[in-house]
Amino acid sequence: MEKRHSFYILTDTHYVSKRAFEPGSRSFRRREAGDQIALVSSVEILRSFFDVILADDEADAVLITGDLVNSGDKLSHEDFIKELRVLTDAGKRVFVTTATHDYCGMGDDENFFTACRYTLDGTEPAEPVRKAELPGLYADFGPNQSGSVDPESGSYSLKLYDGVRLIALNDNGNGRSHCGLFDEGFQWLENEIDAANAAGESVLLAVHHPVIPPWDVYAQAVDFEMFGGYRRLKELMCEKGVRVVFTGHTHVQNIRRYDDEAGRYFYDVATTAAVSAAGNMRRVTVDTAEKTCAVDTVRIDAIKGWDTGGKSFSDYIYGLNFVGLLEKALPLAETDWPRFVETAGCVLPADKLKEHERLVKTALKKLQKLKVRTVAKFGGRLGGVTKEDLASLGDERVLPVLFTIGRHIQSGNAPYGPETPEYKVIKGAVLKGGKLVNTFKKDLLDRIVPPGQTLWDVAEPFVCNNRTGDDDHIVIGL
Ligand SMILES: [Fe+2]
Ligand SMILES: [Fe+2]
Repeated sequence: MEKRHSFYILTDTHYVSKRAFEPGSRSFRRREAGDQIALVSSVEILRSFFDVILADDEADAVLITGDLVNSGDKLSHEDFIKELRVLTDAGKRVFVTTATHDYCGMGDDENFFTACRYTLDGTEPAEPVRKAELPGLYADFGPNQSGSVDPESGSYSLKLYDGVRLIALNDNGNGRSHCGLFDEGFQWLENEIDAANAAGESVLLAVHHPVIPPWDVYAQAVDFEMFGGYRRLKELMCEKGVRVVFTGHTHVQNIRRYDDEAGRYFYDVATTAAVSAAGNMRRVTVDTAEKTCAVDTVRIDAIKGWDTGGKSFSDYIYGLNFVGLLEKALPLAETDWPRFVETAGCVLPADKLKEHERLVKTALKKLQKLKVRTVAKFGGRLGGVTKEDLASLGDERVLPVLFTIGRHIQSGNAPYGPETPEYKVIKGAVLKGGKLVNTFKKDLLDRIVPPGQTLWDVAEPFVCNNRTGDDDHIVIGL
């Protein structure tokens, strides 16, 4: 009997059908520029990922965990399903879950997505998909292969391989502040896990929203972005011995482990959006004899059929991203003010920039000249900076360091390990800054910093990867 099986995971494909926008639509370009993901090229990006999957004879299944389309329009769903059928026609099994971007609100919940079609310079209404239609649309991609579908949420449970059960949870709830399961859904889930455990099967869970946040501050700041009922799910996974849940939504590549007080644990393997900076997918290999699950990141180098202006896939997407746009814009402040406002205006309020032109120019000029060594002086010895560290920093500037950090927010594996001078300088500055804020405005820190943590605890995971060691790879014992 075959013991090793491989499948792919994609998430947050945010697909926009070619029929949902006029070729060359400027309004659609503007819409993309204000986002953190690629939308205009979403079709080509999806196909580029699928080409890799199709060429991989050893992988027999694909799991896509929600935000399949960008704003719940019928045309995008119809065409997305055609793309999925290319995979199933080639013999791959395809399983999907749906999430908030996949339907339009009817005013009866908090979902605010509306379906539109982008004309050259504006938008026109398009046919929406309602939440109740989703199970029917995607019945062939999970529920029809399942022996058990939860009537409350449309979540389903199926035999992925001999000895391996996939339980895929659909977002249920109110479309924004509770995206998860209610009581009956949890009861169904518990029964499915119990049945799998009784049969000696390993359980792989999949759901759109995070069960463990990419950073603790995420749950502190935007608890509603977590899986609705995540505290209960954490307890359930620990209690029932479910060791992994695959998630998306945050668009942040990360792998985190949760340990409860009784020493029980599980991992949340979160994959960044396929259409985001360093868009990735995961390749998962389950060894049913060893009862392990190995997760690796797979990237694509190019977008087939799309002109990236000679840039690699990740550089092209980064240029559309919030941080990438700022990196492109800042040097323009001095040399080409109108272009600076146009570029930075995608992510910052253009009217405020114009209003404070002189102040912005002066501040940016100073920021561009600021050296890491100057920041090291501010932090003093708090971060453990040595003379050798200062010497090795030379004239390194602060801005490129900040952009390097920013570039890794979505792609994972934060760049500066504890042994690097940059890490120590930032640590010193954050500790010193925290002390100052604490003196003058303590309530501000109380709002940002989770209970029992310091400002450095909040900042550190952005500077260095202190999650599980590698956001791109892990082997989990099931
Ligand atoms: Fe998303
Ligand atoms: Fe989402």
